[in-house]
Amino acid sequence: MLIRKSGRLTESDVTPVEIYRRRREFMKSGLMLAGAAVGAMLLPKHATGKLKLDEVTPGPFSSNEETTPRKDIISYNNFYEFGVDKSDPARHAHAMQTDPWSLRIQGEAETTGTFTLEDILKGRQLEERIYRMRCVEGWSMVIPWIGFPLADLVKRFQPTSKAKYLRFETLYDPEQMPGQRRNVLDWPYVEGLRMDEAMHPLTMLAVGLYGDVLPNQNGAPIRLVVPWKYGFKSIKSIVSIDFTATQPVTSWMRAGPAEYGFYSNVNPQVPHPRWSQKRERRIGELRKRKTLMFNGYAEQVASLYTGMDLVKNF
Ligand code: MTE
Repeated sequence: MLIRKSGRLTESDVTPVEIYRRRREFMKSGLMLAGAAVGAMLLPKHATGKLKLDEVTPGPFSSNEETTPRKDIISYNNFYEFGVDKSDPARHAHAMQTDPWSLRIQGEAETTGTFTLEDILKGRQLEERIYRMRCVEGWSMVIPWIGFPLADLVKRFQPTSKAKYLRFETLYDPEQMPGQRRNVLDWPYVEGLRMDEAMHPLTMLAVGLYGDVLPNQNGAPIRLVVPWKYGFKSIKSIVSIDFTATQPVTSWMRAGPAEYGFYSNVNPQVPHPRWSQKRERRIGELRKRKTLMFNGYAEQVASLYTGMDLVKNF
């Protein structure tokens, strides 16, 4: 990915296919992930002793596609807070402190305030879902995420009737995130969703992958996954969720308004000004594949955009 001062993404996103893949079942009081082959694992430190992860149940939108090897998922990343090279996050993100971690909930909601991650996750049933995360330069991966529907969290804080959008922010801490010392983007990283997109059952907050706690380079301790949109919508290491009446301006819209729109739905018919979005390369494959409308989730999400001009609302 080329990066200029103004920021230049490509595309990214995610795709599930159908119910299918089975793994563990998570229950209990709450938190995190299961161990892939190892059974229950230790939770991230911030959950130690309080929340136990046993098993994770496959969610309703898991895919039967072959998963990308873990080593690729955790070593080839976009996380500009740690540098613009794909290998930078794996090299530098381990220094980020994710425990303790708090989330600020603000704006148009009945309940607002700052909550610990344990609090947010308490009692929440975690599910495994396998999505195709297609990134901005056209590569894609199939990632077994572990998390829960964003809708669960939204309901808990009871947005008011004025809340039409959600605005998310990543941690801003240039001491820990060396990439933020450079003007690559207007920090902190900001993303947004329309309320109905946020409430859609495909939209999840991920806390793990491959049966393990989310590695820092993949957005620990909590990140968004929106499978039918380009990957840059899936904001990492979230510290704030704001219920807003107006459409948020995202980091990528600010960096390149002609290139990155608010919706950023995967759409092979709408080229990025600098490249076609018709094809993508799956990591580990030589031949490119055709990119599918809404990343293969048209059946589930097309109705969210009925009557909208998707060329204008890119
Ligand atoms: N979130 C933050 N805070 N900073 C970033 O640079 N990159 C985005 C998205 N979320 C990014 C981010 C992009 S461009 C992509 S493709 C995905 O994260 C990559 O997620 P992955 O590294 O877990 O595959």
